[in-house]
Amino acid sequence: MPREDGLWGFLRRRLRSWLARLERPVRAVPGVERRLEEEYAEVLRGLEPLLKPYRDLPAFHRLPPEGRSPEWVFQHLEALAAREEPRWRKGYASGAVYHGGGPHVAFLNRVYALFSQTNPLHPDLWPSVARMEAEIVSMTAHMLGADAAGEEIVGTVTSCGTESILLALKAYRDWARETRGIVRPEVVLPVTAHAAFEKAAQLLGLRLIYVPVDAGYRADVAAMARAITRRTIVLVASAPSFPHGIIDPVPEIATLARAHGIGCHVDACLGGFILPWAERLGYPVPPFDFRLPGVTSISVDPHKYGYAPKGVSVILYRGRALRRYQYFAATDWPGGLYATPTLLGSRPGGLIAAAWAAMVALGEQGYLEATRAILETAARIREGIRQIAGLEVMGDPLWVIAFTSKEFDIYRVLERMGQRGWSLNALQHPPAVHLAVTLRHTQPGVAERFLEDLRESVAWVRAHPEERGALAPVYGMAATLPFRGVVRDLLHRYLDLLYTP
Ligand SMILES: Cc1ncc(COP(=O)(O)O)c(C=O)c1O
Repeated sequence: MPREDGLWGFLRRRLRSWLARLERPVRAVPGVERRLEEEYAEVLRGLEPLLKPYRDLPAFHRLPPEGRSPEWVFQHLEALAAREEPRWRKGYASGAVYHGGGPHVAFLNRVYALFSQTNPLHPDLWPSVARMEAEIVSMTAHMLGADAAGEEIVGTVTSCGTESILLALKAYRDWARETRGIVRPEVVLPVTAHAAFEKAAQLLGLRLIYVPVDAGYRADVAAMARAITRRTIVLVASAPSFPHGIIDPVPEIATLARAHGIGCHVDACLGGFILPWAERLGYPVPPFDFRLPGVTSISVDPHKYGYAPKGVSVILYRGRALRRYQYFAATDWPGGLYATPTLLGSRPGGLIAAAWAAMVALGEQGYLEATRAILETAARIREGIRQIAGLEVMGDPLWVIAFTSKEFDIYRVLERMGQRGWSLNALQHPPAVHLAVTLRHTQPGVAERFLEDLRESVAWVRAHPEERGALAPVYGMAATLPFRGVVRDLLHRYLDLLYTP
C-alpha cells in the first residue's frame, strides 16, 4: 500500500508484527477466549437478518419423507429467486452479475439445458464438449495475443479464477522442482494480488513474498526485483487488481521474470475480457498479454466479463511443457487409467457449452460494444465520485473504481449505501470501498442513482457522526486489529453461520 512505504510504513509494519506476536499470550489469559466468543456471537447476530432472511419459508434440515411435487419445488425456488432478482437486475451489485440481460440469460439457460447431463470426464460420450472446451481455450488465447506470441499458447478450462491461479502455481511449483531442484519455492507478488494466491500457497506449500504497491497502487517493480531469490519460481502481476482495478506494470515485471528465467503469471481474471477491447477502443491499456515474451501464463474468467454463466475460467500457458505440470495422471489405480487436466474430477459440460455459446454469440463486436458501454459508464461514475467532497478515487482506474476518505469512516458510507440497496465491496489496508462496473450499470439511470445515493450517504455520515450500524465497526475492527487470528476466527464463524440452516 502506498501508505506502507517509507519510514512510517516500515515502523507501522514492525509495530504490527510486534503486536501480532502478543496474540498468543494475550489469548491465553483466562477469560479472553470466552469474551472473544461472546464478541463473535454478537457480531454474527448483527449479520443474521442480512444472511438469513427466509425464516418464514419452509426449511429442509432433513430429506422430506416423501418428495414434494416438482411444481411445488419450482414455485418455492421461484419465490426465492423473485425476492433476490430485482436487486442485481437493477444494478445494485458491484461485479457479481456481469451481463444479466434477460434474453442473454435465457439463451444461456437454453444451452445449459441441452448439455446439462454431459461431463467432459467422458470425452468418448461427449466429444462435442471436449471440442467446445478446446475452442474456448483457443478463442481466449487468440484474444490475448496468441498470434503474436511466437510460441503456441495452450491452456485448460477450469471452474473459477481461484482454480486457474491454483493450477498455474502448481504447474510452476512442479516445473521448478523438476527442472531446477527448487524444493522450497517462493512466489513474488504485490499485496494487491487476489487472495486466491494465498489460498493456493496454503494448499501447495509455497512461500509468498509480498511487495508493496506505489502511490498509484501499481506493483513496485524495484521491490519485486529485490525480492527475487534462487527459490523464486514466478512473479505475479494483476491486469487489473481486484481491490483498486489498477493494472500492474506487466511489461517491466515480465522482462524481470524473463531475465531471471522464471515464470510471469498475469492474473487477468477481471480484465481479460475487457482490456483487449479497451485497447481497440483507444483507452490507455499497457501491454499485458502474450505479446510480451516474458508472460508465461494468464488466468482469465469467461464467467466475469466473458458473460458466461458462473463456473467457467481459463488458464493459459506459453507452451505445452508448462501445462503438463498442471495435469494429473494415475497409472496404477484399480479403477483404470485415469487422467484429469484440472482440479475437478467430473465437470459440468453444461457450463462449458454455455460459456462457448456466450463467446460465439457475442463475438468480437459484442465484446467491443459491451466494453464501450462499461467504460463510458465507469468514466461517468469515476468523475462523479471525484466531485463528492471528502471522497478520493484511488489511483486511475478504468472500470473497477475504489474510493476512500480522509475525512470520515468510509465503511459507514458503505453501510449507508447498503441500506439504500447497494452491495459494494469493502477493502482494507487502507479502508476503502469499490464498485466493479458491469453491464448492469450501463442501464439508463443506474449510474445517476449510484452517484445520488453516494452523495446522500456521504452527507448522512457527516451529519450523524455518532451513529454506528452493524457492519462498519466490524470492517473497521477487521481492518485495524493487529491480532489477525481473531479476525480469522470471526471469518470461520461467519462461514459456520452460512452452513447453519
Ligand atoms: C483479479 C482477480 N483474480 C482472481 C479472482 C478469483 O476469481 P474467482 O472468484 O472466480 O475464483 C478474482 C475474483 O474477483 C479477481 O478479481
